[in-house]
Amino acid sequence: MAFFCCGRLDRKERGKKKPTWRIFSLKELHSATNNFNYDNKLGEGGFGSVYWGQLWDGSQIAVKRLKVWSNKADMEFSVEVEVLARVRHKNLLSLRGYCAEGQERLIVYDYMPNLSLLSHLHRQHSAECVLDWNRRMNIAIGSAEGIAYLHNHATPHIIHRDVKASNVLLDSDFNAQVADFGFAKLIPDGATHVTTRVKGTLGYLAPEYAMLGKASESCDVYSFGILLLELASGRKPIEKLNSTIKRTITDWALPLACEGKFTEIADPKLNSKFVEEELKRVVLVALVCSNSRPERRPNMLEVVELLKGESKEKFSEIEKNELFKVHEAAGFNDVPANEDNSDFISEEKEVKQELNEEKPQDKESI
Ligand SMILES: Nc1ncnc2c1ncn2[C@@H]1O[C@H](COP(=O)(O)OP(=O)(O)OP(=O)(O)O)[C@@H](O)[C@H]1O
Ligand SMILES: [Mg+2]
Repeated sequence: MAFFCCGRLDRKERGKKKPTWRIFSLKELHSATNNFNYDNKLGEGGFGSVYWGQLWDGSQIAVKRLKVWSNKADMEFSVEVEVLARVRHKNLLSLRGYCAEGQERLIVYDYMPNLSLLSHLHRQHSAECVLDWNRRMNIAIGSAEGIAYLHNHATPHIIHRDVKASNVLLDSDFNAQVADFGFAKLIPDGATHVTTRVKGTLGYLAPEYAMLGKASESCDVYSFGILLLELASGRKPIEKLNSTIKRTITDWALPLACEGKFTEIADPKLNSKFVEEELKRVVLVALVCSNSRPERRPNMLEVVELLKGESKEKFSEIEKNELFKVHEAAGFNDVPANEDNSDFISEEKEVKQELNEEKPQDKESI
C-alpha cells in the first residue's frame, strides 16, 4: 500500500500546488503540546489520546497519539493516514500531517474550536445550549453530505464504520466535520459489501453488523439515523431505565413518532424553538435510517435530499412507511445492562455488547 508519499510533490509540481499535508517531527509535536501534557488532553478514544497543541506559527492543532502497538495497530495507522491524506470535503476533517518516529505514531489535524457534537449534547458544553435548531439542521445536513461523499465520491468508496457524536467535530462556525473515517477499510469499486472486523460503538451499531460483521454503507446509514435522533432529542443512544434494563433511542422515539408526537421528541434545551416541519423530517428520516432491516434503509444521497427537503415525493413515501403504522412493542430492542466499561468494539467477527455511559474516558479497545 502506498502511503506517506501523497504530501510530497515532484520537482515539476513544485511551485504549482501546495502540498495538502506534511510530516511533523516528534520534537515539534512535543513542543506544540507541552510534552503531551495532561492539561492539553482533549480526550481518549479506542486508539489513543488526543491533545490540543499550538504550532510555532500560532495555528492550533489536535494531535492523536496512538497507543503503543502490535503490527495490527500499525496497519490501522497507515490505513488512516493514507485515507485521510486523499479525501477532502467541506464536511470531512482533513489531515494536516503525521509523525512516525521510533515507536511513536501521531496524526495531526486542525483543532476544531467547538469540539465534538458529543461535548455539546452530553458533556462539558451541554449546559451552554449553543446548538439552536438552525445549527442542528446545518450539522445534520453537513454530516450527511460528508458521509455521502465517503460512500459515493471517494476513490475507492469508503465505509466510515464509526459514525457517532464524538466523531462529528464542529468548526468555528459550527459546521460539521466528520472525523475518524480513517479507520475504515476501503471498499473496492463495485463491491456491495465486505465482511470484515466489527468496529464501532455500541448504540450506533447496525444489528447485522454487530451480529455478522458484515459492513456496508447501510451500516453507516443506521449509525447516522441514531446520530440524527440524538441531535434532535439531546438523548443518548442507549439510556439506563433501571439497573438491569437499557432502552435504545429508537425504541423510545418510534412510538412517539407513530403517534405524531414530534414535539415530545425535541430536545427540551431547544425551549420549543424549532421548525416543526424540519423536526418531523429529521425524526422520520432518522427512524427509516435506523430500520433494523438494511434493505429498507435509504442511501446517504437520499438522506441528504430528504433532510434538505428537496424531494417531497420521497418524503411522503416515508410518511406512509409501514414502520410508522405498526411498531414492535416497546422493549423489543432493550439490551441487558452490562458492568463492562468499554463501548468500543474492535474484534474479529465477535461482538461483546458493552455499555459505557458513565466512564467514557476509561474505555479500552478490545
Ligand atoms: N481535531 C479535533 N479538534 C477538537 N477535538 C477533537 C479533535 N479530534 C478529536 N477530538 C476530540 O478528542 C476526543 C478523543 O477523540 P478520539 O477520536 O480519540 O475518540 P472518540 O472519538 O471518542 O472515539 P473513537 O476512537 O472511536 O474515534 C473526542 O472527544 C474528540 O471529539
Ligand atoms: Mg474519534
